[in-house]
Amino acid sequence: MKMIESFVEIIEEKTGLFFDPSRKKYLQDAIEKRMATLGINNEEDYYTLLTSPSFEQKEILELSKFITIPETSFFRHQEQFEAFEEGVLPEIIKDRKKQGKPEIKIWSAGCSTGEEPYSLAFILTANKERLQGLKVQIYASDINENALKIARQGVYPQREVTKLPKKYQRFFTFKDDVCIVKREIKEIIKFMRINLVKEPFPLYLFNDLDVIFCRNVFIYFRERTIKRILRNFHICLRENGYLFLAPTEALTIDKQLFSTEKVGKSFVYRKTLYQQSLETARKKESPILPKAIIKPPTHLEKMPLPKSSPKSPKELLKMAKQFADIGAYQETVQICHKLLDNYPTLPEAHLFLGIVYYETGKVEEAISSFKKAIYLNPDFALAHFYLGNIYWHLGEVNKALRSYKNVLKAVSKGPHYGILPEIMDVISAGELEKIAKEYIKA
Ligand SMILES: C[S@@+](CC[C@H](N)C(=O)[O-])C[C@H]1O[C@@H](n2cnc3c(N)ncnc32)[C@H](O)[C@@H]1O
Repeated sequence: MKMIESFVEIIEEKTGLFFDPSRKKYLQDAIEKRMATLGINNEEDYYTLLTSPSFEQKEILELSKFITIPETSFFRHQEQFEAFEEGVLPEIIKDRKKQGKPEIKIWSAGCSTGEEPYSLAFILTANKERLQGLKVQIYASDINENALKIARQGVYPQREVTKLPKKYQRFFTFKDDVCIVKREIKEIIKFMRINLVKEPFPLYLFNDLDVIFCRNVFIYFRERTIKRILRNFHICLRENGYLFLAPTEALTIDKQLFSTEKVGKSFVYRKTLYQQSLETARKKESPILPKAIIKPPTHLEKMPLPKSSPKSPKELLKMAKQFADIGAYQETVQICHKLLDNYPTLPEAHLFLGIVYYETGKVEEAISSFKKAIYLNPDFALAHFYLGNIYWHLGEVNKALRSYKNVLKAVSKGPHYGILPEIMDVISAGELEKIAKEYIKA
């Protein structure tokens, strides 16, 4: 396959899954299978389909059915479920009671065929009395729709279920050689298709979560992708919320975001408080997020900018995006400023700079850049959208609502995108409208 490198690149960008040389053959086979299903025999044609704006999102989801690894089982890494039941759950119950909040919210991110969220639901249902009336909501998501279909059906081979302790077998109806999860369990789980890598991250769905389980999902992700997802997880969790990663995932987790705690025989991560930064950000003194959460890899810090600089704003923005993609944010900012020196009234440049500032935790600068983009083009729906997201994270709900309403207004006029679609993936007008409405509803 001639184009394998191009496929590796686009697939990592869209799904986070990185195919190193040892796994390229696997990717190649998967692509060929998918091409055969579609009746396409030319890889260039398939690449065009995979990257064409109207098909891309759908095709990435289709291809993901062939390239993800859905391996899972009930109570996988048993000791983590023990830690959850014995150490974490009592703390959550105590906290929720103290806060007067009536619900426990858990997210199984990358749930595959459902065994993980069902295992959690078994524990919570078996502990109903200890919950003292607290309601339970489990969200379970995956990128792979085939896996989710199995999860939603909740039908498993009998040999898997008979391995479980009797106290959990009662949550199944035995029929022939299969077992079906009972309705009382299914009712507390919401299954949904979510690509953890796709921006904007669905923060409107997940907030104030008690626990996130995201185990054996990061194995094929590179560090920069993991960092981005962890930052979003941090936002979704409540203060002191818990994060479970697989015990085999030896990650260097940013201490500004999560601390490590031993619970029983397991290590769990807990959301560290940046309450102070939040307060100061509210007073407009400093950014909400710790500075430079995403640090450029050190070998890139000194990467020189090309000497013969391209002239057009499109070329400059493209170059800025390439630097941003490899995590070289210093260079990205430099290029954006150069661009703005020459084209100070280009709203797209302000928006792009805003995104980069936001990615690197410079919230004040990001707000100011998005505002400039809006000043230059009041119908710039994306700029209103990003500004809304920042206010939402800062807890400035009224300002966020105003921005999301402006998104709807701009979309109704036909949102301005300028040259951005040629440089980066932009969110479609329909999607922007849908998300803005979700936020307003929330
Ligand atoms: C090995 S399974 C893990 C299942 C379960 N968490 C466990 O530990 O048993 C990994 C899952 O991550 C999902 N996954 C991979 N990339 C993803 C992405 N970008 N967004 C959401 N899910 C993804 C795969 O589809 C797969 O079902």
